[in-house]
Amino acid sequence: MLRRLYHDQPASFAFTPANQAWAEAQITKYPEGRQASAIIPLLWRAQEQEGWLTRPAIEYVAGMLGMAYMRALEVASFYFMFQLQPVGSVAHIQICGTTTCMICGAEDLVAVCREKIADKPHALSADGKFSWEEVECLGSCANAPMAQIGKDYYEDLTAKRLGEIIDELAAGKVPVPGPQNGRYASEPLSGLTSLKDMDSGKTQYNASAQLAVDIGDTVKRIDGTEVPLTAPWQGKAGQDKVGQGKAAPKAAAPKAKAAPKAPTPDAAEKIAKPAAKPAATPAPAAGEGTKPKTMKAPRKAGADDLKLIKGVGPKLEALLHSMGFYHFDQIAQWSSEEVAWVDQNLEGFKGRVTRDDWVAQAAILAEGGETEFSNRAKKGKV
Ligand code: FES
Repeated sequence: MLRRLYHDQPASFAFTPANQAWAEAQITKYPEGRQASAIIPLLWRAQEQEGWLTRPAIEYVAGMLGMAYMRALEVASFYFMFQLQPVGSVAHIQICGTTTCMICGAEDLVAVCREKIADKPHALSADGKFSWEEVECLGSCANAPMAQIGKDYYEDLTAKRLGEIIDELAAGKVPVPGPQNGRYASEPLSGLTSLKDMDSGKTQYNASAQLAVDIGDTVKRIDGTEVPLTAPWQGKAGQDKVGQGKAAPKAAAPKAKAAPKAPTPDAAEKIAKPAAKPAATPAPAAGEGTKPKTMKAPRKAGADDLKLIKGVGPKLEALLHSMGFYHFDQIAQWSSEEVAWVDQNLEGFKGRVTRDDWVAQAAILAEGGETEFSNRAKKGKV
């Protein structure tokens, strides 16, 4: 399929302050000189902000990453996840038309889209709420035919069910993603024939559908408030929890870069010079944070099994002991300043406390609860 820039482009693009902070933090994930690796998350964020990927947005992101516009356009035009033209305000529906789905009824699904949305792909419905396109295999062939709507998969579809889903979305509802014919996941239609004892701990929906329901962002666009705005590896700046949406302390965030200039008409076709030097990866300051209280030895009952914390193996457990940490409740009480200190002082394992959120895990374990990981660890399944 020919994927090219839309004929009618806005004059400019800029990230919102929240998205700008998030984008700058993403860039710090990569080593100096490799900032271009952040291209996909940044383009995705730009698309989430605007609804589709405009040329000014592609150029803006290229400028942030010090890339030639053309290199960024290559990425944007290669992946179907990037929409290069306006899409429906409620949902863009991607029908898989590859072999398995085609044999199982994808053409009927396309017919529903033609009837209910627009006769041609990439055209908006009359009310502007929907658009659709046919895409290549989305990797859910065992549940064919299927469609991706927003961020989730609707599987085992029939024409009737897809019509209902579109109606529900138009009415402001979000139907539960996943199989639409009563299957839990991709087991045989007649039910499980093996692994029948794997039912314990089953969630209401299969893992993907359950996560979709829990997160609730199927057709909701990310707006900068859902996730930590900073990168956890930046130390204390990354301690903001999901949903709090606190901005990063200035000292920990990479220096903001000037927004790229407004695009010139032929900018995307040229191989432009990198617009700016890539953002520098901030090196965490040695000794950053506050040292938590330590113990000379474990309590009489003995040390907790710190290996029940996801991310802590025997080496890290020994290191923690040598630093004076033996118990879940010690870790559970670490403040963000203390986390920053420990993260900096875990020789060979810097940043692990934040990366695996030890504090949250330890808080559960300290109260006698179990995490998904500790459950598996106790059964010897890790
Ligand atoms: S053929 Fe449709 S998901 Fe693979």
